[in-house]
Amino acid sequence: MTDKPLPEGFQLTQMDPDYHAHRAERITAMREQCPVKRDPMFGAFFVSRYDDARGVLTDRTMWRTAARAEDEAAILKLREVNEPPELRQEGGIRNIIFLEGEEHARVRPPLQKALYARVAKCKGDVENIVDEILAKIAAMPGPVDLMEELAMPVPVKVIARVLGLDESRFHEFREWSEGLILSLKAIRTPEETEKYVKGTLALRTFFTEEIARRRQTKHDDLINDILEAQDHGTQLSDMEIRDNLIGFLVAGNLTTTDLIGNGIYNLLTHPDQLAKLKADPKLMGPAIEEVLRYESPVDITVRVASREMEPQGCPIKAKQAIITWLPAANRDPRAYANPDTFDITREAKPHVAFGGGAHICIGAPLARLEAQVVYQKLFDRFPNLHLAERTETWKPTVFFHGLQHLRVHLN
Ligand code: HEM
Repeated sequence: MTDKPLPEGFQLTQMDPDYHAHRAERITAMREQCPVKRDPMFGAFFVSRYDDARGVLTDRTMWRTAARAEDEAAILKLREVNEPPELRQEGGIRNIIFLEGEEHARVRPPLQKALYARVAKCKGDVENIVDEILAKIAAMPGPVDLMEELAMPVPVKVIARVLGLDESRFHEFREWSEGLILSLKAIRTPEETEKYVKGTLALRTFFTEEIARRRQTKHDDLINDILEAQDHGTQLSDMEIRDNLIGFLVAGNLTTTDLIGNGIYNLLTHPDQLAKLKADPKLMGPAIEEVLRYESPVDITVRVASREMEPQGCPIKAKQAIITWLPAANRDPRAYANPDTFDITREAKPHVAFGGGAHICIGAPLARLEAQVVYQKLFDRFPNLHLAERTETWKPTVFFHGLQHLRVHLN
């Protein structure tokens, strides 16, 4: 125990310029000293121990959306209040992230079924995409920034292939996605708001046109599969399809990029672990789970209490917002022995890097597949790969945890 005040507000995010220097210390202090703590700026409780976080995430009576939350729940309400008028639509945004209860239970299952079926048959495509990118990288003079050249393009190209989109528009997808992601920023500059509006409107127009094209001619892709499900009586409106296609294109990019980058970085900085992985390919699955646990790409996910509760003796009322702090829970010593050690052979135990319960990440199987193909092919092709610099710079993106650059020498 120390007398140092616990971190609050901006200090819990990348908006604080000192955040990365103190991240680990702040996470530990909160989890050990005040595991359920109300933060005035967020208007929400930070829950940072594993059992409490899992309990909240997997409790299917919990709510999710701003509409259910008390007015003080800034973490949820600010997004609505600050939504530019040009982007408002009747019925709100129909992405499953923002749906509740029966609506979520109606919309998610057909999308999940279609996505999982496509993921199950896309390994060859992922391998081709990664091979092509690695061939390009092999011809580059060193050092190579693997964030820019590998971790960023792979997820965009893969999801574009799954959705059946024209991959040559890759740069536009990235630009639009970066715009839409700005919706997560509560306080934006006018330029950022303009980028957010432009990106979102472009994505809406683009997917409306893609849907119309498939109604004219069948394609062999996920959009087609979802439209077929709709034709066969699955209750999904066009707006629900469009908003969730946008979600698929955008939601997996930043996050999977960071899983790829965080994994390569931690394997290179823990050569004993990389050696174990190379010696035993069966460790690939556990290695990916360990990267997700040890260096979780997403910091938080939010629920709304549907009733009174008292985790760790801290009273929470119905309608109050709860932030599950994923990296804190994933490093809880009550759940994992030596939690601050990167150990790909540790005893298997589920982590919360993909959230949990009804809203658990729908893209998890795709993200795992991409990481698997990238790690395997990268370390096979460049056995002497090593970091060009040890100083890591983390991105300033709020609530996402990934590297800005990952410069390596290939030989
Ligand atoms: C390593 C990569 C990824 C990480 C760490 C990640 C993390 C998360 C987390 C923490 C949540 C919130 C879950 C909850 O509230 O319980 C989530 C939800 C979601 N993710 Fe991912 N994600 C990743 C990749 C993807 C990909 C590739 C896609 C799309 C293809 C995707 C689409 C979604 C969607 C649509 C939701 C909302 C699900 C719902 O509310 O029912 N994610 N993700």
